[in-house]
Formats: sequence, C-alpha cells, structure tokens
Amino acid sequence: MYDNPCGFLFIYLYIVRIFIDLYCCSFDLVTIYESWCRKMKYGFAQRVRFMQSSAVRDILKVVNKGDVISFAGGLPDEDLFPVAAMKQAFQKTFEASDNKAMQYGETEGYAPLREQLSEKLQKKGIHRPSDNVLVTSGSQQAIDLFARVMFNPGDIVLTENPTYLAALQVFESYEVRVVPVLSDDNGMDPEDLEQKMKKLKPKCVYVVPTFSNPGGKVWSFERRKLLLELAQKHQVVIFEDDPYGDIQFNSEEVYTPIASLDKENKYVLYTSTFSKTVVPAMRLGWIVGPHQIIRMMAQAKQATDLHTNSLAQVAMHHLVNDFDLDAHVSTLCKAYKERMLVMKSLLDSVEMDGLTYVEPKGGMFFWVSLPSYVHTASLLPEAVEQGVAFVPGAPFYVSNAEENTMRLNFTHSKPELIHEGMRRLVNVINEKKEAAPQQV
Ligand SMILES: Cc1ncc(COP(=O)(O)O)c(C=O)c1O
Repeated sequence: MYDNPCGFLFIYLYIVRIFIDLYCCSFDLVTIYESWCRKMKYGFAQRVRFMQSSAVRDILKVVNKGDVISFAGGLPDEDLFPVAAMKQAFQKTFEASDNKAMQYGETEGYAPLREQLSEKLQKKGIHRPSDNVLVTSGSQQAIDLFARVMFNPGDIVLTENPTYLAALQVFESYEVRVVPVLSDDNGMDPEDLEQKMKKLKPKCVYVVPTFSNPGGKVWSFERRKLLLELAQKHQVVIFEDDPYGDIQFNSEEVYTPIASLDKENKYVLYTSTFSKTVVPAMRLGWIVGPHQIIRMMAQAKQATDLHTNSLAQVAMHHLVNDFDLDAHVSTLCKAYKERMLVMKSLLDSVEMDGLTYVEPKGGMFFWVSLPSYVHTASLLPEAVEQGVAFVPGAPFYVSNAEENTMRLNFTHSKPELIHEGMRRLVNVINEKKEAAPQQV
C-alpha cells in the first residue's frame, strides 16, 4: 500500500474525516453541556436566604430612565462636583515618576491619606492616630467588614426604627437579629435602650445620630452621652455611621460625634465618607475604633479586595492637600440648604391634615408622614407615571412599618426641578385626599 500513492491519499482523507467527525461531535457535546448548565440549580449558601435587593436601588433603576424627577436616591448634585480640582489631582497622580499609585497598595490604606484623615477626625474631637484609620471602599464596606468580623448568626444589633436600609441589608446577610429601639426626635429612648441591652445582650448598637438616613434628624448631646454611658455599663459596642455630618445648614451648631466622647477608644466605631462631600464614584470611606476590631477588619479586607483603589486614594490625598475642601463643603451646604428650603415651602403649601415632617438641619432628606390612609408604596407607581419619584418609607423599618411615610431627597435636583417635581407629587397626593374616606 505504501507504494501506492492513491492508497496513501485514501488513508489521509480517512483520518481527516475522523477529525472532522470528532470536532462536530465535540461541538455538539459542548452545546448539550451548555444547555444543561442553563437548567442547573445552584446550591447557594444558606445565608443568601436573608439577602434582599435594596428597594432604593431597585427604584433608582426605574427612575433613572426617562423624564422622571427623582427625589429617591441619596445623591449629591453632579453639577457641584469639584471636577477641575479632581482633574488636577488625578493629573498629579499620573505625573509622579514612580507610578506607585498604579501599584498594589497596603490593605489599611495609603499612609499619607490616613494621616490626613486622622487630622480631619481630630478637628471633630476624635483623637485617633493614623494607624487606627482603615480606608475602605466607601463607608458601606466599613459596615460590611465590621459585621463580618463581629457577628455570628442570631447575634443581636439594636437600631432606630426606621434606619439606614443598606445597613439592614448587611446585618441580614450575616443572619443578625435586628431589634428596634423606641426613639423620638432627640434619639433613642434611654429607658427602652437600657432595658433591651439588659434583656437581649446585643453585640452592637448601630446609629446615624447626625442628619440620619432616612429621618434627617439629629440626636441631642444628652442622648449621645447616655448611649455611650449605657454601652460602657453593659459592654456593648456602638457603630456610629456619619456620612452626612459635614452637610450642616447652621455652622454655629455643634453636633458632637459619640466617638469623640469615647476618650479611650474602647466602645465606638466611627465611619464617614467622601461620597457626599467630594464624589461617590471615588468609593472612599474610612473607619476608626478599638484597635483590635480595626485590625480584625483589616484582615477581613485582605480577603475581600486586598485594598481600596490606590489611584483614588493618591488622587484624594492630592485633592485634600491642594484644594480648599472646607470652602467647597460650605458651598455645598449653602446650595443644599436653599434647596431644602424650597422643598419645605412646597411641603408647607399642601393643605392636608396628617402631613408632618421635621425641618432637616443638614444631610439630604425630608422624612414625610402622610395621613394613615395613604400607602406610599402604592402611591409610587402613580407618582412615577406623573414623572416624579420618591422612596416609600416601609423598607427602612425593621418592624411595624409605617406605610404612610416617604423619604424625599432635596440635594440632587436644582430648585426649578424641585418646584416642578413637588408640583407633580402634590397633585398625586391631593388625588388621594379626594379619594380619602370621609370623616363623620
Ligand atoms: C447612613 C449611610 N451610611 C453609609 C452610606 C454609604 O456611603 P458610601 O457611599 O460611603 O459607601 C450611606 C449612603 O448613602 C448612608 O446613607
């Protein structure tokens, strides 16, 4: 056969044929495997049973499309971002000859930025050395890292009711039992707090005492002090979440951070962020607190993301150095106060028994209660139809949700848009008034 070229060609073609068949066959197998995968049931961890999509994020997805004026998100105004200063800060970052900003960095954060944060905290009376500062990817990550290192399933956290939705999301994902404490305009009710501390032995009290989200309220100094005293007495850790503290409308007033009262740095974790005063996209937050907890959180961060974005940290370091951030924050406060007052005057113009709110002294939100017959979650689709959005209050509650509440953001829209958005919202609310059950 080897002497016969035709025989050789025949064998050659035969082998080629086998390869083509095999290829086609394997191609078919791949297709079959892929379609089997599509039907695959994944064995998720038990803890995902408690994970829920955030109502606010889901609403934002809808309202960011089209001509809807949104009072929904906790968003700063893009037109007030310090874009020129940020360009310069990034330019300086890229011009450095060592390219270090593009390298892996330390888990705890960029050392010169940690120094600046330690100084910034000192101005608030929180005296913590820079090696106590952990830079995080937003203060949201600080909440998550804290929960990761502190909680076992079934552990108890005390919070206000309502409270920050995404903190609840974190706690629930670690299978924590969140228990609400009674509170009023000045903060948590000390009696209820102490009773729950004694009875439930919580691991932590989570609070947003300065311009809370969603309530927009400020705790009195006495309640801050009492919370710390009770935490010391019952050996409970306080998590003080302070993203809005700098957005303050009356610069004369002083809102003492609870962390500043904790002189020995034993009981209070304090987190804040550049999201509301510079830009959220930098994803830069920080946390300070008892050294052992911060060290453990840094270890958890190693496993989570190794470190926060180095480029952003170095650029932020330049921005803080070269740019008058305090003056910028004053500009923001002035603009946001004006918008808050516009929204307030429009809320005041609604004639409706049962509509109440407290004028915010800072932060980004009005928390509005409507008459009990108004169910704000059902009102939302009608409002979106009319071109305005808000967040219904119910998802912010741990329990006993007041369905007639809503959160309105006043920082993202300019005054003209606030006027138009409120006109639309008031129309929708008034329609409810007309359909309301008549009082006898
Ligand atoms: C109370 C509270 N904590 C934390 C965060 C998270 O902020 P960051 O953008 O720094 O992750 C927010 C954001 O809106 C907030 O309102």
